[in-house]
Amino acid sequence: GYYAGGAGDEITLADNLAAWRRLAIRPRVMVDVSERDLRTTVLGRERPHPVIVAPSAFHKLATPEGEAATARAAGAVGATYTLSSLATTGVTALAQAVPDTTRWFQLYVFRDRGVTREIVAAAVEHGYEALVLTVDMPVLGNRERDLRTGFVVGHATAIPMVIAADGEGVLSLGEVVDLIDPSLTWSDVEAFAAQSGLPVIVKGVLRPEDARRAAEHGAAGVVVSNHGGRQLDTVLSGADALPPVVDEVGDEIDVLVDGGVRRGTDVLKALALGARAVLVGRPVLWGLAVGGEAGARRVLELLVSEFDTALALAGVPRAADLDPSALAPAPWARP
Ligand code: FNR
Ligand code: LAC
Repeated sequence: GYYAGGAGDEITLADNLAAWRRLAIRPRVMVDVSERDLRTTVLGRERPHPVIVAPSAFHKLATPEGEAATARAAGAVGATYTLSSLATTGVTALAQAVPDTTRWFQLYVFRDRGVTREIVAAAVEHGYEALVLTVDMPVLGNRERDLRTGFVVGHATAIPMVIAADGEGVLSLGEVVDLIDPSLTWSDVEAFAAQSGLPVIVKGVLRPEDARRAAEHGAAGVVVSNHGGRQLDTVLSGADALPPVVDEVGDEIDVLVDGGVRRGTDVLKALALGARAVLVGRPVLWGLAVGGEAGARRVLELLVSEFDTALALAGVPRAADLDPSALAPAPWARP
């Protein structure tokens, strides 16, 4: 329930998937697609393909090895791995498990700014390449599945960053989230960029005005995201929120998107709408739960290989050449 669920009536949770399906692909034919190029550039670095592992909490709920298994899976397929602030593995331990894997660190800013600074310093020291500052969780969304199941976070001792931020004992998710500072504002983006020297990616933007503010305050990128439908129900899907954000800041900073990416065709659509890469959340967790590292790896391999097939069959052999002309509103979704 914790992994699968969303907020409220789960309208947005469902729409995250439906929104990609409302887009049809307009394939070109008679294009030489004998060689495909899946590469994309994110934060100025070339990546072999546009699939990134989204930050998600508590991987030891899925597999005893936890985040190390997920990160190894990511590394094996060339996907950037994003470690959550609420991971069941610490910043240092994860880095030691996968020293050579491209890693980002997702930052929840704890009320205890001293601890937050220490965590950021550890991320810098251990070679994380960016801070993903999640800004859509000042308070916890209304997650009724968790209320029904009485979901608690086993022992806070399993979450090193929560212990550091002073969480103790068996905590509800609400109690964990209470450690997060709800007074965060735009000037904090500059402060974390300055403190860390790392590019800051603001995750959880749905309005172009906010993407503009992020850029003005020194963000290197934004993730257009509604947190997997887990925070405020009936907000826009990533897919629907993406185009205005790309129009506003796409020439200046990297625009990424997440929510409901389940198929290689979804990845193609996201790039055609102007995203540089996609983040994938739950599918990786399902792979992890079924088969640990190998399961997570298989999920990522499937997505990348479906994306390759989609490029070939859409007649756009280079991912970097995707543009909105590849898409049309799906006839089956017209009102
Ligand atoms: C998340 N997400 C999330 N985001 C974040 O910034 N920090 C976190 O700790 C978590 N934790 C988390 C746990 C679980 C179980 C889920 C499903 C999601 C949100 C995540 O990064 C991403 O935005 C969504 O999961 C993307 O949607 P899909 O791919 O799950 O549909
Ligand atoms: C969640 C938090 C931990 O979505 O980001 O469950």
